[in-house]
Amino acid sequence: MVDERGDCLTGQDPRSPRHSDPHGAPDLADPASALPLDVRPVQLGPVSVPTPVVLSPMAGVTNWPFRVLCEEYGPEGLYVAEMITARALVARNPKALRLCRFAPTERVRSLQLYGVNPSITEQAARIVVDEGMADHVDLNFGCPVPKVTRRGGGSALPWKTDIFTELIHRVVAVCEPANIPVTAKIRVGIDHSHETFLEAGRIAQEEGCKAVTLHARTTAEYYGGHSDWSRIGELKAALDIPVFGNGDIWGAEDAIAMIRETGCDGVAVGRGCQGRPWLFANIRNAFAGDPERVNPKLGEVCRVILRHAELLTEFYEGDERMAVHDLRKHIAWYLKGFPVGGSTRRAFMECESIDDVRRECDRLDPTIEYPPRVIDKPRGRVRFAKKVHLPYGWLDSRTTTHEERETLFGDDPMDASY
Ligand SMILES: Cc1cc2nc3c(=O)[nH]c(=O)nc-3n(C[C@H](O)[C@H](O)[C@H](O)COP(=O)(O)O)c2cc1C
Repeated sequence: MVDERGDCLTGQDPRSPRHSDPHGAPDLADPASALPLDVRPVQLGPVSVPTPVVLSPMAGVTNWPFRVLCEEYGPEGLYVAEMITARALVARNPKALRLCRFAPTERVRSLQLYGVNPSITEQAARIVVDEGMADHVDLNFGCPVPKVTRRGGGSALPWKTDIFTELIHRVVAVCEPANIPVTAKIRVGIDHSHETFLEAGRIAQEEGCKAVTLHARTTAEYYGGHSDWSRIGELKAALDIPVFGNGDIWGAEDAIAMIRETGCDGVAVGRGCQGRPWLFANIRNAFAGDPERVNPKLGEVCRVILRHAELLTEFYEGDERMAVHDLRKHIAWYLKGFPVGGSTRRAFMECESIDDVRRECDRLDPTIEYPPRVIDKPRGRVRFAKKVHLPYGWLDSRTTTHEERETLFGDDPMDASY
């Protein structure tokens, strides 16, 4: 599994002034914000997404316990599992197989595959299809993490149009007969001198993808600054299939603003829902024109924390310690902005069992309101890449040479993250 964690967390607001105000309130000076919003269900082949909001896949975050919490707040969205490395699935790596599990309540079992080698990714898709593992397959062409891009994967791959095309082609050829829609998640490009998104979107459409999600940053931009939503508008104008816009949706009003500004068909939310699964209720309400927003008091947040702990214990097959360790980062996100002292936060980080977590929750004042200063504000990682890591000579041409393919597809057990 790719560990994308550990990046710097700051409270700084990286948004450009162009977007909605820091409270996420509609900009009343903007006449467009007064118009009713036309948000329609999105159809991905046989899979319908009545509320066009996607839980963007996040490694180490969007396992089924978190997805279940999000879906409880916002039924009828699309909740995608974290990326599964194709090679790991083909090797039946137990960790990868665990990430492929879904809760019985999940409406759509949505799985994301990551691969560089079209043949291995096809084999992984074949396993998904033959074993009835999922209802939807997303393909990861957006990951900017050096250990992925230096192998030509994630956001580096669309640069090589031959592999990119072949990989999608092979996966669609396996999934389509089984009525499993395939979608692609891309970035703007490697950097602004090497943009790929328009071509990648067209290829994905031609090869049979049912939608494309654009994270409107380049690999070099990593998670820094504000994503450039105008690129989402460009992609939407260029394609016939649905486009989900992704990047910097921190609150329901951002979701509305993105749709208004870009005309995209739906939004994908990543960091904004870390520690805030109720964001999906807010976005659903906003799309329905309902002004109600969920921002729970500390007592309710603790109830969610404990439920999350219980679901994670099930995910880890009764291993409460593993569950509580996994929960720690979520607790930090859940408690962000609340007046909870350093010693209590440390005590949470030392919990080893659900009883420990319950004891710490019981010490908190349940009547404390959700802190306004973190409502709909940026959270999670926010930095630029120090350097983009790519295979040697990657940018020299848009297609791969025989030698490049050999190097890329050599049977290297270090492939990506497993
Ligand atoms: C911790 C973390 C893990 C991520 N893992 C994945 C992943 O497995 N697959 C993927 O396509 N994108 C992954 N992403 C990218 C997000 O899905 C999303 O595109 C990105 O965070 C931008 O959206 P946001 O501004 O709403 O956070 C990850 C992002 C974060 C912060």
